[in-house]
Amino acid sequence: MKKSKAEAEIFGAILEGADAVKERVLELRRELHSCPELSGEEEKTSNLVAGVLEGLGLEIRRNVGGHGIIALIRGGAGEGRTMALRADMDALPIQDLKEVDYASDVPGVMHACGHDVHTSVLLGTAMVLASIKDRLKGTVKLVFQPSEERSITGASMMIEDGALKDPEPGAIVALHCFPEMEAGTIAHKAGIMTASADKFKVVVLGKSGHASRPHQCVDAILLASLVVNAIQHIVSRRTDPLHHAVISIGTIQGGTALNVIADRVEMEGTVRTLSKDARLKIRALVEDTIRGVTEGMGGGYELDYQFGTPAVVNDTAVDWLISRCATHVIGEDNVVTMPDPKMGAEDFAYFTEKVPGALFRLGTSNKAKGLTAKLHSPDFDVDEKALEVGVKTLSWLSVCYLIRGLPTVIPCP
Ligand code: NI
Repeated sequence: MKKSKAEAEIFGAILEGADAVKERVLELRRELHSCPELSGEEEKTSNLVAGVLEGLGLEIRRNVGGHGIIALIRGGAGEGRTMALRADMDALPIQDLKEVDYASDVPGVMHACGHDVHTSVLLGTAMVLASIKDRLKGTVKLVFQPSEERSITGASMMIEDGALKDPEPGAIVALHCFPEMEAGTIAHKAGIMTASADKFKVVVLGKSGHASRPHQCVDAILLASLVVNAIQHIVSRRTDPLHHAVISIGTIQGGTALNVIADRVEMEGTVRTLSKDARLKIRALVEDTIRGVTEGMGGGYELDYQFGTPAVVNDTAVDWLISRCATHVIGEDNVVTMPDPKMGAEDFAYFTEKVPGALFRLGTSNKAKGLTAKLHSPDFDVDEKALEVGVKTLSWLSVCYLIRGLPTVIPCP
């Protein structure tokens, strides 16, 4: 993608604008990091975000799907396309163990997934785009989302509350911190980016009695152990090995005394899949397996299986836009194509089900500085150099989309 003269001028203005707001973005990131809020409780974060956006003179809508905020940057050069950019704002129930002056002030709550970075990068992008808005044709819609972590309801609640209407975006992009790669890089991928995440709760039912007379009872603990084993055979023996999947049982509870045969064991598990076929097939196989094992041994079961967040499927054209624009910002060597999806889940998927969109990974680690902790760990931190990469990339790809739209044929790299 070669820049025209006008595009090159806007690109220059974006780089200058991002440099001008660099310190402010860093301050905001540290402010957010020190006052994290859990899913559904993002009131202060939301107020802080709204205050910054209003200070830029942007049109905003508060309380969209909870504490969500929508802001519009309307170009001064007329109506045109709409690009949406999304950042999630919530934190995790983890005690921050870092010894830095911006460590969490809230006991047991921490931005350990980098959503403070996502939010401050999007605010920085708002500052840069607002400074050049007279030159833009079209609209950039900023989506600040609550409740991504715990309840994973933020995206769908915002969509239900009209986040994708008035105006409807033609594309949507989000980024996520990625400590597997150094700050100054990004990773992108077309197609499936993250897995779907479904959950189930199963109650294995037996018949209670004296532990010395098991033949008069149905031992729910033994049945539960067979169910755990049998469920692990679903991925290894009953699904196509090319259809990646993970089933993990994370909780198990049952029994009241060492000399009493238990009549009830409860277990909960999660299922991660990359394809719709595997997702539906595993749902059926989990029930099949539980029924076969429990009823075959004279017991019973109750199953509550719930489909959760779908897979994030990155649109090929939006992914191409991200990779080309990031190349302009950080150079080809720092833009990496991810070979494989991740089995984690992201509720950005709900946006990509409605609008062509893509999620990319923002490299955030720095081995030389000892910043290598993984996401969701109590010492997670980022090299803040990543903030500026995020701001420049999101700003530039938004402008490119407004000017050119998406390619219908993806050019050779
Ligand atoms: Ni996250």
